[in-house]
Amino acid sequence: MIAKHIEKLAPSGIRQFFDLVLGMPEVISLGVGEPDFISPWRARERAITALEEGMTSYTSNKGLLVLRQSIANFFEKKHSLRYDPEEEILITVGVSEGLDLALRAIIEPADTVIVVSPHFVAYPALTEIAGGKVLYLMTDPKEGFKIDVQKLKELLKEDPKAIILNNPANPTGTAYNADELKKIWKVLAPKRTLIISDEVYDELNYEGKPVPFSSLGKEAKERTIMLNGFSKAYAMTGSRIGYACGNKEIIAAMTKIHSFSMMCASIISQVAACEALKAQKEVVQMRMEYKRRRDFMVKELNRLGLYLEKPQGAFYCFPTLRKFKIDSLEFAKRLLFEEKVAVVPGGAFGEGFSSYIRISYANSFDNLKEAIVRIERFLKKL
Ligand SMILES: Cc1ncc(COP(=O)(O)O)c(C=O)c1O
Repeated sequence: MIAKHIEKLAPSGIRQFFDLVLGMPEVISLGVGEPDFISPWRARERAITALEEGMTSYTSNKGLLVLRQSIANFFEKKHSLRYDPEEEILITVGVSEGLDLALRAIIEPADTVIVVSPHFVAYPALTEIAGGKVLYLMTDPKEGFKIDVQKLKELLKEDPKAIILNNPANPTGTAYNADELKKIWKVLAPKRTLIISDEVYDELNYEGKPVPFSSLGKEAKERTIMLNGFSKAYAMTGSRIGYACGNKEIIAAMTKIHSFSMMCASIISQVAACEALKAQKEVVQMRMEYKRRRDFMVKELNRLGLYLEKPQGAFYCFPTLRKFKIDSLEFAKRLLFEEKVAVVPGGAFGEGFSSYIRISYANSFDNLKEAIVRIERFLKKL
C-alpha cells in the first residue's frame, strides 16, 4: 500500500525516543527542542481579541499582507535587507512547512541536496520525500562542527541542486560569523546550487549578531531561500508560523504548492505573530536567560566529563560520551530509566554521531540543576 520511498524512510530518532518518555512521571526532559517559556503576552492577547473580533476566515494564500509587511520592515531595519512583501515573502506553517515547500518547489527526480551533518532530523527526510538524494557534508567537532570549505568544494562537483544551511545549528549550537559565511559563499558563488538557509535560531546567538545568508550580497540573496519563524525566539511553537523570503519565482512556486496543500496558515496565529514582532524586549530577556543556562550547562557537563566546546547559539549542548565508552542510545535509555532524565541520542542527527548526546537547555534553571545532580549520580555507575 505504501510508496516505497516513504516505507524506507526511517522514523524520526527524536520522536521514537520520546514515545518512551511519554507517560513516565517525574522525568526532566532535556530532549525536545521547544522553549519552556510561553509566548509573549501581547501576542496571546492579540490572538484573544482577534477571536473576539470574529477573525475566523482563511487569509490570502501568501499570508496576511500586514504580517508580510511587518516582516519586510523588520529585516530592512535590522539587516538592511529588502524583500518585497507582495512577491518575495510567504507565510508558512512553521519553518517545517517552509522547508518542505522549498525542497518540493526545486527538486526533480535524481537531484541532490547537501545536508551538513550532524543535522536537524527533517532535512534528509524532507529531501527524500521530495524525491531528492542527500549528499552528507560531515563536520568535525575539532573544527567546532563547522563546514570545511574543501569538503564542500568536493561535493559541489556533483552539481547539487541545493545546500541546506542552518545557522545557528541544531543539534550542535554552532553559529557562523559573517567572515565564515563569506568563505562558504565564495565557494558556492561560481556554482548554480541554491541555498536553503534555515535561520530559525538566528535571534538565539549568544556571541555575535545574526547574519542572514542573503545579506552577503545581491547574488547571494537571489540564490537564497531564507527560512525563519516564530517558534524559537518568540516561544511560539504552537502557533505554527514561519516565513520564507526569496526571489519571486521561487516564492511563487512555493506559494503554488502551499495554496493546494495548506491554503494558508491560521489567521489567529498570523495576527499573533504580527504582534509578537513588537515583543523585542521579551526576545532579549529570553535570550539572556538561555545564555545563563548555556554557561551553567557547559561548565557542569565539562566538569562531569561530558566534554564539549561552548556552543554559540540555539539552545542545545552536544557533548561527547568518549570518556565513558558507551553508545548514545544505551546511555540515553539507561539515563531515562535509572535517573529519569531524557536526552536525545546523537545517532538521531546523523550517522557517525552515536557517541554524542543532545541536551536541550530550554528548561527551567532549577530543572537543569536537578538534571545535573541526576546525571552525575548516573555517571558514577558507569
Ligand atoms: C533547525 C530547525 N529548523 C526548523 C525547525 C522547525 O521549526 P518550526 O516550529 O518553525 O516548524 C526546528 C525545530 O526544532 C529546528 O530545530
